[in-house]
Order: sequence, then C-alpha cells, then structure tokens
Amino acid sequence: MSTILITGASSGLGAEMARQFAALGHDLALCARRTDRLEELRSDIARTHPDVRVEVRALDVTDHDAVFRVFEEFRAEFGSLDRVVVNAGLGKGQPLSTGRFDANRETAETNFIGALAQTEAAAQIFRAQDAGHLVMVSSVSALRGMPKNITTYAATKAAVAHLAEGFRADVHGTPIKVTVLYPGYIASEMSGTSARTPLMVTTEKGVRAMVEAIEKEKASARVPAWPWAPLGFVIKHVPIGVLPKMS
Ligand SMILES: NC(=O)c1ccc[n+]([C@@H]2O[C@H](COP(=O)([O-])OP(=O)(O)OC[C@H]3O[C@@H](n4cnc5c(N)ncnc54)[C@H](OP(=O)(O)O)[C@@H]3O)[C@@H](O)[C@H]2O)c1
Repeated sequence: MSTILITGASSGLGAEMARQFAALGHDLALCARRTDRLEELRSDIARTHPDVRVEVRALDVTDHDAVFRVFEEFRAEFGSLDRVVVNAGLGKGQPLSTGRFDANRETAETNFIGALAQTEAAAQIFRAQDAGHLVMVSSVSALRGMPKNITTYAATKAAVAHLAEGFRADVHGTPIKVTVLYPGYIASEMSGTSARTPLMVTTEKGVRAMVEAIEKEKASARVPAWPWAPLGFVIKHVPIGVLPKMS
C-alpha cells in the first residue's frame, strides 16, 4: 500500500486510475480544477473502498507556484508521497499556420510547462525522501512529429517523455523510479472526438493496461500493448507522407 498523487483526476484516465488504484488499496491525493468532480470521485471511492484515504485539492497546473504548494501540502498531509502521476493534459491544438497560436500555446503551457512544474515538484520530494516513483503520461503521438490538429500536442508529449527519461538518467542507481506511458486511443473527454476509430478502447480497459505497467514500475510502455506496441513501431518508421493518412 502506498500514497499516489494524480493530477488531472477529475475525468477520463486520471479518474479511472484513481478508482483502480483504490481497488488495489492505495491512498490517493487527487487534484484538478473541477473540484466538484473530485468530491464526487472521493464519495464513490469512500463507498466502494472505505479503507482507502482520499484527499482532494484544486489545482491548475499552469499556476506553477500552486503546483509546488499543493504537492508539498499533500506530502505533509500523508507524511510521504510514494508515486506521482503527471497526467493533467489538454488536447486543444490546431494546425500550424491557421492563426491559432493561442490554442497551441495553451496546449504547450499545460502539457509541457505544467508537466515540468509537476516533475520538479515531485523530484524535490522524491530526492528528500530518497524514494518515489514518477509516472509521466505521454502518448503514442509522441513517437513522431504529427500533422494537423495534433502537431503541438504530439510535440509536448515527446518533450515530457524526454523530460522523464532525463530524470531517469539522473536517478539511475537510486531507489527513485520513472515510468513513461504512451497511451493509444482510450475513451475519455479528450479523446471523445476520435470516437470513430475502431482502435479506441474503453476507459476501464485502457487504464487497466496503464495501471499494470505502473505497478510493475516499467521504464516505458505503449498501452494497451495490443495494438500499440506493434503499431508504435509502424508509426516510428512509416514514410512521412503516410502520417497524414494515419492521424
Ligand atoms: N485518452 C486518450 O486516448 C489519451 C491518449 C494518449 C494520452 N492521453 C493523455 O492522458 C492524460 C489524461 O487525458 P484524458 O484522455 O483522460 O482527458 P480528459 O478526460 O480530458 O482529462 C484531462 C484531465 O486533465 C485535467 N486538466 C486539463 N488542464 C488542466 C490544468 N490546466 N490544470 C489542471 N488539470 C488540468 C482535467 O481536469 P480539470 O479540467 O478539472 O482541471 C482532466 O482531469 C492527458 O495527459 C492526455 O494527453 C490520453
């Protein structure tokens, strides 16, 4: 049993990770901007897993001072943080050259600078504890530069994967562990618009694969492994002209 902090826990993958980690007996520190959703989730978990402790806090990950403050408040409340899942994310990008720098900047600030703040805050706590597990939620879109709406999104997801791998190199040989997850299409509020794809799996199934990889403290995992382990290989190697047809 351990204490897990999850950002972006108010919906989609974050909320389902909270449910599945609760079922495994882990205590939870949950944050997001929509605290009404977090309170509902806490009530659900209290009903189904009364022995699990759940604390919730409002957090906008683009408020960097708040990221450091909230992570430290959770650490103080629980005594330690064993795992931090950097999950909060935004898929609001628009194609380059279409005049939507505002949307692309918001995606970049949330998914990269926000994740950088979370990683720094978690890393400080783990260094002080000499223990901890950082989990970064990237995406299979990080495997290549991607066209159209997901160009900026994919770039942020490549950046966070490298950020986490760099920290893994820093902490190599210490008790601190780092996992990078590359989810494929998993049903959520964000992926709702891609519902036409036959590759989409339910939130429950997709998150089960994520939780399994996290519990094994894998260095990295494409999830669910089928079809994303082989498809990831294809994405990495197809000629650039094929990418617009795949996205
Ligand atoms: N679903 C997929 O197919 C898929 C595939 C690859 C990667 N991912 C990644 O998985 C993660 C979770 O996404 P999802 O699919 O579960 O989408 P989602 O249902 O839209 O959830 C996104 C979560 O991020 C939070 N969030 C967004 N902006 C935030 C901000 N500024 N500050 C704090 N929290 C913020 C949202 O909470 P509030 O709005 O309440 O703040 C929400 O809880 C993201 O990093 C996404 O890129 C998803």
